[in-house]
Amino acid sequence: MKNAPDGVIDQLVVMGATGDLATRHLLPALALLLRERRLPSELRVLGVGRKPLTDKTYRKLGARALAEHAPGINVSDRAALVRRMGYLHADLRQRPDLRAVVGVRPVIAYLALPPSEYPRAVQALRAGGLAPGSRIVVEKPFGEDLESARELSRLLHAVCPERDVFRVDHFLHHQTVQDLLALRLANPFLESLWNREHIERVEITWEETAGAAGRVGYYDGVGALRDMVQSHLLQIVALIAMDIPAGFEERSLRDAKAAALRRVHALTTHQVATRTARGRYTAGSLRGQPRRGYLQELGVDAARGTETYAYLRLTVDDPNWSGVPFVLRTGKALGRPRRRISLFLRTTPRGVLSAAPAVLSFDMGPDRVTFDLAGAGSNGLPAVAPFRFETSRPSQPLPASARLLEDVMAGNPTLAVRDDEVEESWRIVDSVLAGWRAGVPPLQDYPAGSAGPDLPVE
Ligand SMILES: NC(=O)c1ccc[n+]([C@@H]2O[C@H](COP(=O)([O-])OP(=O)(O)OC[C@H]3O[C@@H](n4cnc5c(N)ncnc54)[C@H](OP(=O)(O)O)[C@@H]3O)[C@@H](O)[C@H]2O)c1
Repeated sequence: MKNAPDGVIDQLVVMGATGDLATRHLLPALALLLRERRLPSELRVLGVGRKPLTDKTYRKLGARALAEHAPGINVSDRAALVRRMGYLHADLRQRPDLRAVVGVRPVIAYLALPPSEYPRAVQALRAGGLAPGSRIVVEKPFGEDLESARELSRLLHAVCPERDVFRVDHFLHHQTVQDLLALRLANPFLESLWNREHIERVEITWEETAGAAGRVGYYDGVGALRDMVQSHLLQIVALIAMDIPAGFEERSLRDAKAAALRRVHALTTHQVATRTARGRYTAGSLRGQPRRGYLQELGVDAARGTETYAYLRLTVDDPNWSGVPFVLRTGKALGRPRRRISLFLRTTPRGVLSAAPAVLSFDMGPDRVTFDLAGAGSNGLPAVAPFRFETSRPSQPLPASARLLEDVMAGNPTLAVRDDEVEESWRIVDSVLAGWRAGVPPLQDYPAGSAGPDLPVE
């Protein structure tokens, strides 16, 4: 094998190599990078897992996964990736010896494992003498509350510095989210509008038609709040509410996001009752097809009381944002998909005319940015949408999962989530969970295929 040039890591160790993330997302993303000639030529992929596979049987599994999940990539590029794959049979519960794998030269250790195994994986890396300069990639959910997130960070810091920990969030690599960030960074004039004087309300919505089938093993007991709000949606709150960072590099951007999250109010019990809602889908129908309820999904434990819909109205303790609600909504098994970030702007001096607000929206799938402005409606009074500006440029050629890997391989943590950001997010989410654990507000049923549970009156 060729030696890698200085600073280039030549081994990606995928811990949990036979799982859904590794086979459905990671291998296709690697194959895409290889096709685009963006994968370092020295990089080898070492799968680590508890299934008793050999190099040969793991390569077969990889080839099958690529045929199924990356059919658009030609056979020779897929085969070229498969040739770079090898396997180590190791059950983390048996305290495997990883010295020969991680202790010799720097590696990228990708934890594609159930979150319950993260601490064991980090211990195994530590016992294996993880070579300095290595990077560790950690998928969401990062902990299950503030305390467990802190503990996991403590474990990680005993093995490598924070700069080499990549808590990855696919949302931050999404084209639309990067458009939002670029818009702020590249257009300083927008900053004079980017505050309570001009923005009335912010809504961040990620609603899906898919239910939890097939993901129950992970989702049950985690739920919509921990799965979506703690990670993705609060990152978007941070990108909107942050002060404009000095530059687009890891320190400035992550400092600005962490500071914004610190200013988001944790909710009191009374506020949890009046500003949040949670729901769980029951049997219903979508486009004429019957849909099971969440409790009928295979493997669900009703006693866990898992919510499949979460709504929160947050405020940011900052003179720029005081009084501006940040409304977060996310749920499964809904009647239509809505994946949108919207900033509602004031169109008339407050209290003078009641035109609906102009809206700047960022859609995720299909990716699109639109700006609806007020002009004269048919009756001559201001109305929104006579003027619409819409993006028309093509999306980036690489999906979020591939761009994220590129950043990890380049050692660029700008879009990875730092420990203090994670802790601030959990502070906010823990305040909601405390109310929900006390039964406030109650968990509502909503039929699959509907618009979701009733939401608090604003
Ligand atoms: N899948 C997604 O779309 C997705 C999206 C975002 C984030 N994530 C996160 O990514 C992580 C992995 O998710 P996943 O969906 O891939 O889970 P998964 O399908 O359950 O796969 C987990 C993998 O870990 C292996 N594993 C479990 N216990 C082990 C042990 N003691 N020693 C060694 N290997 C062990 C499993 O081996 P076996 O094959 O033998 O069970 C399997 O290969 C989770 O943290 C999840 O939250 C997943």
